[in-house]
Order: sequence, then C-alpha cells, then structure tokens
Amino acid sequence: LNSMAPTAFVAPQTLSTSTFKDDIFRGKVLFCTGGGSGICRGMTEAIMRHGANATIVGRKLDRLTQAAKELSETTGQKCLSYQADVRQAKTLQEAVAKTIETFGRIDFVICGAAGNFLAPISGLSENAFRTVMEIDTLGTWNTIKATLSHIRAAKGAYINVSAMLHYKGTPYQAHVSAAKAAIDALSAVVAVEEGPHGVRSNVIAPGAIAGTEGMDRLESKDPNGGRDMLYPLGRVGAISDCANAAVFLFSPAASYITGQILPVDGGSEHLRSLV
Ligand code: HXC
Repeated sequence: LNSMAPTAFVAPQTLSTSTFKDDIFRGKVLFCTGGGSGICRGMTEAIMRHGANATIVGRKLDRLTQAAKELSETTGQKCLSYQADVRQAKTLQEAVAKTIETFGRIDFVICGAAGNFLAPISGLSENAFRTVMEIDTLGTWNTIKATLSHIRAAKGAYINVSAMLHYKGTPYQAHVSAAKAAIDALSAVVAVEEGPHGVRSNVIAPGAIAGTEGMDRLESKDPNGGRDMLYPLGRVGAISDCANAAVFLFSPAASYITGQILPVDGGSEHLRSLV
C-alpha cells in the first residue's frame, strides 16, 4: 500500500512546459481579466509566448502596469494594461474598446478576476457574500457581454477560471463556492448558445496552485500550513500547469472541445483515504 500512497506536499519541481509550436497564436489577441498577477498572469504569458498580443485588466494600476511591461519584455509581444473593476460593465467596455483600437480584434478571453477570503457562513455579511459574487460571477458575465461580438467575429474562445472547492462542501468558502458554481453554469450556456457561431467556452478549475494569492490566503489559515494536503502526482500545482492548460484549450488541438471543465489539480479531487 505504501508504494501506492500519494506523496505529501512538495514544492513544484517538475513543472510542465509547453509542447506546442511557438507561433500557434501569431496574429491573435487575448483579453484577460485578473491578468496582473497569479494564474491569469501566467496564462497570459504562455499565450503571448506563442505569438499573441494581449490586454490585461485589473484593479491595481501599479501592479498591472508593471506586469504588462514585464510580459512584453519576456515574450516580445505587445501587452496593453487597462485599469478596470470587472463589477463595472462600463469600464470593461472601455477596456474592450481600447483593445480593439490598439489591436483590431479579440480572439481569446480569460475571465479570471476573482476575490476570496476565508469566513464561516456565520461570519459572512450580506455585503461580503455579494462582493465575491459580484467580482467572480457578475465580473465573468460582464466580461463575456463586453467581448462577445468580437469573439463571434473572430470565431474565438473563452476560458473561465473556476476552482475545485465547490464540487464538495468546502468550509469557509460558501461565497466563493456559490460564485464559482455559477461560473461553471454560465460557461456551459455560452458553449451551447454560441457554438453555432463558432465560439467555444471552457472552464479551467485550478486546484492548489503554489505562488498564488488564493493559495496564500487559504494556506496561511491552515495550522499545518497546508502541508497535510496530499497530491497523487507528488507535488503541489504550479502556475505553469494552468498556463499550459490554457494554451491547449485555445489551440486548434481543442477545436472540438467546448462546454467542458478541465481540473488542473494533480488528481487531488479523486483522492480519498482508506478510512
Ligand atoms: C469576513 C470579510 C472578509 C473576511 C472582507 N470581508 N474580508 N468578511 N471575513 N476575511 C467583507 C467586508 O467586511 C465587507 O463586508 C465585504 O466583505 C466587502 O469588503 P471590501 O474590502 O469592501 O471589498 P473589496 O475592497 O471590493 O475587496 C474584495 C475582497 C478582497 C474580495 C474582499 O479580498 C479582494 O480584493 N480580493 C482580490 C484578490 C483575491 O482575493 N485574490 C484571491 C483569489 S483566489 P461589510 O459587511 O463589512 O461591508 C480565488 C480562487 C479560490 O478566488 C480557490 C483557491 C484554492
């Protein structure tokens, strides 16, 4: 049994690397909310490394500007940053307009802006619940609405960033669980309604991913620092794991894949102890 037992938490060592050709996204444009940091920044970098230009949207101007500069330098592609709160449809529409003015098209959208904190239901105010629902769910909705005509025109694709925690009852995550479940549902409807227009929509559901704000927030509250979590693949997830999943889902290799949820969790969801 011991040889079959999953390995305990280890830092990412064997990170996945893209096996796709460098230029598969040449001439394409990505619009990414939450692209200033974490998983969405990593996804943006990977898409740009394969030839796309990008717009990243977020609330924190300094972080966003710095990220855009670094993304351009690292990839040799153009990166526009636009300060916007995804809860405000009007500012998102302005970000989309600026993207079209700059790049002329939008092929890919990542709806990734999210908010999170740990709180029990008894400690969640109506405003706290609403805030996360608005950032995650309404923000995804606003982003889809603001970009849909351009994605139709390009016969492009959406990736909506969800999570793994709402497929079971995760304590202190009522607000996030409700918000992410709604994102899964929304993505499926986009897939079936917009499929006839050549639009695809999928979900990436990250598990525990090292080096992200979400992980920091959750891990810091765990008395064991998260190290009692087990990963069948023997390591915690890396941002590059999610980035490579995004490259695949936007690539022509996934042209018959829509309405799906792709967990990037190293198999953790399937892990159950013997007792
Ligand atoms: C209880 C809390 C709280 C906490 C905030 N609130 N933190 N309630 N416990 N720890 C309440 C506030 O008291 C307030 O309610 C309401 O939430 C809104 O708070 P604001 O600070 O005014 O909101 P805002 O400035 O818009 O900030 C949003 C935020 C913040 C979500 C609260 O944390 C944020 O900006 N986060 C963005 C970055 C982030 O969270 N990234 C991680 C994403 S990871 P009252 O009633 O007092 O007015 C992720 C993936 C999950 O989403 C999966 C991980 C494995």
